[in-house]
Amino acid sequence: MAAKGLQLGARRFVAGETLDDFVEIVRELNRGGFLVASAILGEQVASEGETHRTTAEYKQLLSRIASEGLKANVALKLTHLGLGISESLASENLAEIVAHAARLTTSIRVDMEDSARVDATLRIYRAMRKARHDNVGAVLQAYLYRTPADLEALGDCKPNLRLVKGAYLEPPSVAYAKKPDVDAAFKRLIEHALLAGGYTAIATHDEDAIRHASSFIRAKVIPNDRFEFQMLYGVRPALQKHVRDQGYTVRIAAPFGREWYPYFMRRLAERPANVAFVLRSFLKG
Ligand code: FDA
Repeated sequence: MAAKGLQLGARRFVAGETLDDFVEIVRELNRGGFLVASAILGEQVASEGETHRTTAEYKQLLSRIASEGLKANVALKLTHLGLGISESLASENLAEIVAHAARLTTSIRVDMEDSARVDATLRIYRAMRKARHDNVGAVLQAYLYRTPADLEALGDCKPNLRLVKGAYLEPPSVAYAKKPDVDAAFKRLIEHALLAGGYTAIATHDEDAIRHASSFIRAKVIPNDRFEFQMLYGVRPALQKHVRDQGYTVRIAAPFGREWYPYFMRRLAERPANVAFVLRSFLKG
């Protein structure tokens, strides 16, 4: 079923089903001048044993990245490490992965999931930083009203933050519902994070937001080693090259694995034109 599905269109957004497929794709992206944020697909897990298997898979992924000399780090979801079971389980699994990454001199980013997970995710992130795990980053979502306060509260630890608009369906009580409001909040968030003194990963395919960030960076003379742009594997490849050709660091978030379905459905939901693309591949295939 999964392999058939990849033929039907998920292949555009998913960097293979196995670690070997994935390594090939990362090599290709590195040759093209892109860094990679790798992820093993999967979200909620049902048992503690499953979270330990996921933790072991992430450590194996990090070791393979190091042994192949790939320019890639790792981004992961805390629900994949057991946040739905208990906060301490997710935190212990994360600490194990982060320590392994530190030994290999690479870094881990914790994705941000739905609004019900934000408090726990930021608590775990702060605890990691307090324990001197400095090779870990977090994500803030511009659509949440709370985000400017979260950014300010994190300011003291000079965080490494990926900024996104936000991908989950949230109620208007917690998040902006209208796209222009989200877009404006995203630009404000980019400016505040860039001035806050940590490291900022601007993750978007929105040309207007990228232009805004780029002129702000020039105006404030923010050095290139304080920020990067990030985009998703398979989304707007011409824009990815364009931003790279402007001399900016561009990291491509490339997930792989057999559990591609929820990830793929989120990418379709973001852009209805992708559904037409998938239907076309289905008819051709
Ligand atoms: P916007 O939605 O305005 O899109 C701008 C343009 O990009 C569109 O007009 C379209 O042309 C193109 N585009 C966007 N999405 C597309 C797609 N799927 N297919 C084809 N074209 C598309 N969210 C979250 O809640 N937590 C997280 O941890 C992350 N992590 C993350 C990492 C990275 C590297 C990226 C790029 C994004 C995320 N996101 C995320 C997702 C993010 O919140 C958001 O949903 C998407 O990036 C889409 O928003 P844009 O900023 O691209 O703008």
